[in-house]
Amino acid sequence: MPLPEVGIGIAGYGMMGKAHSFAYTAVPVMRSLPCRPRLRVISGRDEEKVSRAAAAYGFESWTTDWHELIQRPDVDIVDICTPPGTHAEIASAAAAAGKAVICEKPLAVSYAQAVSALDAVRTAGVLNAVGFNYRRLPAVSLMKRMVDEGAVGKVRLVRAIWLSDEFVDPAIPYDWRFDRSMGGTTIADLGSHLIDMATWMAGDVAEVSGQSETFVRERSNRAVSVDDASSALVRFESGARGLFEMARVAVRRPCDFTIEVNGSSGTLVFEYARLNELLFGEGADEPGLYGMRRIRAEHESHPYARSWWPVGQGVGYGASFVNHLGDLLERWPDGPWEPDFATGAAVQAVCDAIDRAASERRWVEVREITVPPAARTRRP
Ligand SMILES: NC(=O)c1ccc[n+]([C@@H]2O[C@H](COP(=O)([O-])OP(=O)(O)OC[C@H]3O[C@@H](n4cnc5c(N)ncnc54)[C@H](O)[C@@H]3O)[C@@H](O)[C@H]2O)c1
Repeated sequence: MPLPEVGIGIAGYGMMGKAHSFAYTAVPVMRSLPCRPRLRVISGRDEEKVSRAAAAYGFESWTTDWHELIQRPDVDIVDICTPPGTHAEIASAAAAAGKAVICEKPLAVSYAQAVSALDAVRTAGVLNAVGFNYRRLPAVSLMKRMVDEGAVGKVRLVRAIWLSDEFVDPAIPYDWRFDRSMGGTTIADLGSHLIDMATWMAGDVAEVSGQSETFVRERSNRAVSVDDASSALVRFESGARGLFEMARVAVRRPCDFTIEVNGSSGTLVFEYARLNELLFGEGADEPGLYGMRRIRAEHESHPYARSWWPVGQGVGYGASFVNHLGDLLERWPDGPWEPDFATGAAVQAVCDAIDRAASERRWVEVREITVPPAARTRRP
């Protein structure tokens, strides 16, 4: 019997529009699902480019107006791959039209905007998910599983760092990524992934310090309103401590993110450049084996391994989207989906707290962002 079809409408044909289209196409090849995604319509503002993308990505149709996309009766899931400043508006309209919503990260450019999107999906009662795809890299998923199983003991320290060189060249022309109201900060762009992975593994963040700098302050004769680089010291609700650093001006660093957890009895380290591996240091190992074990996160006992190639062949960036969208489609139409907009809003609150800590040069509690001043009581 043919599988029921799920109509997909993607807003935005850029890098993420391409990544998500690839994933919807690949996922039925890699794993069995209760439904079959069908690429109904893609939107973008440039007629020539969006029509070309629609043909290349395998869509049945295209439009230059996302409002039209969300009203289509044959679209069940609206997948938002536009700049962050547009997310809340598109997500809210899609939810009001009764569509399930998948939104790329960061959920918005401010906590207030993220909450408006969260309220909209809750009011409409629709499934919702935010694009924290790196959770779905097999080695990162394995790291989370090992932390939960106590492989490192009680988590004490979390270090999450993302270095890229995408903004190094001052000749890169101004676009939405340099506009705080449309693209958001480096804290929200790179940091949102780091904060998501760190809080997934170590629990909520309580307070942060912060520092930010913009080294190239003008592009195409326009003022840049985002940070090039930021960092934060972090205290988690659990008492664990941490460090986040995100930079888009680190020369010869292409997409180098690393996340490390030091617990009371062990250490786990993930480095994106070796994304099929996980380093594990076990305190109880015999002294003669002092050092870290290099786990190949591809064994059939590991997350996602059975959906992919034989052990040793490895997966790449695209697999994170296939795994992510595959997990969501597997739960169609009842859910639950995760990480959802509530997670997206919680991550945004930490981003806003780092931003505020940097501009006010002080430690900021996350509840300063999430709880209105009148409702805040002093901590004991
Ligand atoms: N999860 C990841 O690994 C990852 C990687 C890159 C980007 N992203 C996120 O994906 C989103 C899109 O990023 P991208 O790299 O694909 O961008 P992009 O510039 O490649 O594409 C942006 C798309 O949005 C459209 N667009 C631009 N401005 C718009 C507006 N004002 N209204 C409506 N549509 C508009 C463009 O026409 C284009 O189709 C962002 O939120 C970004 O943070 C996620």
